[in-house]
Amino acid sequence: MSRWLRRTDAGRTPRLEFGADYNPEQWPRETWTRDVELMRDAGVTIVTVGVFSWARLQPAPDVWDLGWLDDVLDLLHENGIAVDLATATASPPPWMHHRHPEILAVDADGRTLWPGGRQHHRPTSPVFRRYALDLVEKMARRYGEHPALAAWHVSNELGCHDVHDHSPDAEHAFRIWLRERYGDLAALNHAWGTAFWSQHYGDWAEIRTPRRTGPGTHPNPTQQLDFARFSSDALLSHLRAERDLLRSLTPDVPVTTNFMVMGETSGMDYASWAPEIDIVSNDHYVHPGPSARDELSFSANLTGGLAGGAPWWLMEHSTSAVNWQPVNRAKRPGELARDSLTHLAHGADAICYFQWRQSAAGAEKFHSAMLPHAGSDSALFRAVRDLGATLRELAPVAGAHRVPARAAILWDWPSWWAAEQPFTPTAELRYKAEALGWYRAFLDTGVRADVVPAGSELTGYELVVAPVLHVLPAERAAELAAFAEGGGHLVTTYFSGIVDENAHAVLGGYPGALRELLGVRVEEFAPLDPGATVLLDDGSTGDLWSEPVRVVGDDVEVLAGYTGGGSDPGAADLTGVPAVTRRAIGAGGSATYVSTRLADRAPLLRRLLDAAGIVPELPGELCGRVELIRREGFRFLVNRTDTPVELAPLGEIESLAGLPTTTLPPRAVTVLRD
Ligand code: GAL
Repeated sequence: MSRWLRRTDAGRTPRLEFGADYNPEQWPRETWTRDVELMRDAGVTIVTVGVFSWARLQPAPDVWDLGWLDDVLDLLHENGIAVDLATATASPPPWMHHRHPEILAVDADGRTLWPGGRQHHRPTSPVFRRYALDLVEKMARRYGEHPALAAWHVSNELGCHDVHDHSPDAEHAFRIWLRERYGDLAALNHAWGTAFWSQHYGDWAEIRTPRRTGPGTHPNPTQQLDFARFSSDALLSHLRAERDLLRSLTPDVPVTTNFMVMGETSGMDYASWAPEIDIVSNDHYVHPGPSARDELSFSANLTGGLAGGAPWWLMEHSTSAVNWQPVNRAKRPGELARDSLTHLAHGADAICYFQWRQSAAGAEKFHSAMLPHAGSDSALFRAVRDLGATLRELAPVAGAHRVPARAAILWDWPSWWAAEQPFTPTAELRYKAEALGWYRAFLDTGVRADVVPAGSELTGYELVVAPVLHVLPAERAAELAAFAEGGGHLVTTYFSGIVDENAHAVLGGYPGALRELLGVRVEEFAPLDPGATVLLDDGSTGDLWSEPVRVVGDDVEVLAGYTGGGSDPGAADLTGVPAVTRRAIGAGGSATYVSTRLADRAPLLRRLLDAAGIVPELPGELCGRVELIRREGFRFLVNRTDTPVELAPLGEIESLAGLPTTTLPPRAVTVLRD
């Protein structure tokens, strides 16, 4: 992942890319000319072309029509606009499912997912794969040398609509995947715990994907976890197939595919995808609500973590309203620039949207774009143009890596999948919400934290939070222990360390694989009724979960205990029982355990940061109101609030691009040199 766009490589003047998905096939040719004029006016430097063009490029199995795309690429190139060229395999054309209904995906009820929308194919269909690779080859041979070509864009949002396919092709591929993972059926039977409920398999052919079972029951939990892993891997296998072909034909052109690190999108384990492509790119859409801004920052931060701290590419976000919420509101003044610049701050060197020109027809005609239905004489287009100008002036930021924080939050897709399975102590647990809660606590305290995939190198971090790290193989647990023994401060929560990679409970008491390190032991979980709370004797409250924690190790300090003042009448009486503990370990390290879901994690985090000697990098008056993000040589300040923030506590400052220096208006961002 060391490459950037081909045409701007080597010795380039640093520049930030700005652009969008461009879908000229939706418009007459006259519009294309106007498009590029306005793109230049807006400062657009790159567009993604061809994402949903398959039906136009190959109108029938033996008919190709690429001439119009030649013209589009030439026109863009003549106007100095680079192209991120899609392989165009994102959604198969009607002739394919008409001739080959066997490419259609199947849901967990065995129902066919019919065409009419997009991405209705089976990721494992050999028929789909063959046609897709034919198209990729056609594109690579035709455009590999085109001077506009800056990168290949494999498919589009792989798994957006078809990640969990239960078709016969998926079952066949699942069995192959399982054979590779387990080697023989004895190993699989052990891993899946098939002694339970008479599930022992005697033949690979008996194994199915975890389809819907009868009311009141669910498929085997390890089968579910493996199916989640397999489904992510099946998409990755498609990504690899396209990438390998592209690399063999056009070795100098970097390859990307747009991830969906956002909201509750959980199907793809991007930690395993990121090393497979040349440039990490991500799509992010805001889900409205009180956490929306912080969630955007979290996702951008995690994308930076996937890119290993190197620059990445924001492939899509929205200039204003989306069309897929129950109610789709326009962004408020300042939000367009704030959202884009927050991604930039977290490492994006390309800021792109869906899409350039708002569609007049089709499912997304009410989704915002850079150029809205209202045309260029609109507040939205002016805001886009202003941002383009700002990005030109912020060019020196391009290429800067992120400055590692002293603290980190670990993120783990298998734990997300397993902790939210059915048949757990509570159906209310939400993995992302717990991680985001800790992230918000860091933002509230004014201390930066990197969000990094679990299993990342922890050297350099002084405090690491591992929220609901539910699936914890023994080697990973040993790495966390080594981190604390080496002087690091580990913080973890309820339902962490509970199962191994096969989703088997670690025996001997909870929290399983972390029990000894934390020096506590729990015999039974004590989840709370929805809406009920528990009070802790440090004044904090928790909900969702509680536990009768018993201290069993040496050097364990109780940081907070449960009081009898909770609001769940049926809950166990935990009066006087430890709720939050901290064990001193080795050379100044520690391991903290939080056995409930704290409503506000910031007070505890402040204590833990103090104990670790980690102080905010912002003056106290700004902590909580402003998010500080650092790339080498630059500091970004984002106003998290809807009120102006005075920057006087920073003293005399100079900003780039004429951004604010004295008062940070609501939702505004400023950029300073270090
Ligand atoms: C993405 C997709 C785009 C567009 C956008 C709308 O999922 O890649 O094609 O549909 O969402 O928000």
